[in-house]
Amino acid sequence: MSTPTPASLRAAFGLEGQVAVVTGASSGLGRACALALGAAGCTVVVNHLEAMAADGEAVAAEIEAAGGKAMPFVADVSDEAEVEAMFKETVRRFGTVHVLVNNAGIQRGAKFQDMTLAAWRAVLDVNLTGQFLCARSAVREFLRRGPEPDVSPSLGRIVCMSSVHQTIPWAFEVNYAASKGGVMLLMQSMAQELATARIRVNAVAPGAIRTPINHDAWATPEALTELLKLMPYGRIGEPPDIAHAVLFLASDLSDYMTGTTVFVDGGMSLYPSFRGAG
Ligand code: BGC
Repeated sequence: MSTPTPASLRAAFGLEGQVAVVTGASSGLGRACALALGAAGCTVVVNHLEAMAADGEAVAAEIEAAGGKAMPFVADVSDEAEVEAMFKETVRRFGTVHVLVNNAGIQRGAKFQDMTLAAWRAVLDVNLTGQFLCARSAVREFLRRGPEPDVSPSLGRIVCMSSVHQTIPWAFEVNYAASKGGVMLLMQSMAQELATARIRVNAVAPGAIRTPINHDAWATPEALTELLKLMPYGRIGEPPDIAHAVLFLASDLSDYMTGTTVFVDGGMSLYPSFRGAG
């Protein structure tokens, strides 16, 4: 899975010249989404934490080296002022925003009885409050800018990065699972409320994808063998698998979709332990 967006698909996605903000874009799924949107012709705001500056700048440079346009931007998505500053600067530089990929997310697992309030809060702050803050800024901008019929039939599109754990309970990761369950209803409720304004909100629910967040689950052959038991399709996901679904939901090819979660998980959510008839 090396080419996220073949040049021939550029015209089909119709995203050329649009402005996309991708949060947590310095690594993993966010990086893949930023590269794919850049390849599809979007101007991409590559959001990252200060601590990830070198990686965030490298992603922006990679988009530009491929002929695209990108701006790295430091902001902690759980910080209201930093999120607002990021959207303000995006609009100042590029005129508006058309697409938000609400991707930034973290895991801080622990045995339930040992889970600290700090770990609970950190995960909820980034994974859920961060998505609320970025979506709110994006929606405010969509409404301020108003319709652009030559660009899209919608006022704007938001793609929320959820997880199979929006429905699959997850032992030792209760803060993460709770945050993704929250993302599901945040996404659906926003979609319901904002559809009349022609703002579309959808989610992608990845299963196990080869990124730094779950490094220990795939880094050794033994761990990978265990992990593959959970995936009927027989392989681990790669970041472009997710980026392709995000691209579709960000584009007008999905114009009649809102409030939907697209599971991209190799069958992980299909109760894999029943595949031999239970
Ligand atoms: C988590 C990964 C995990 C996957 C499947 C994702 O949401 O971030 O760590 O491997 O779900 O369990």
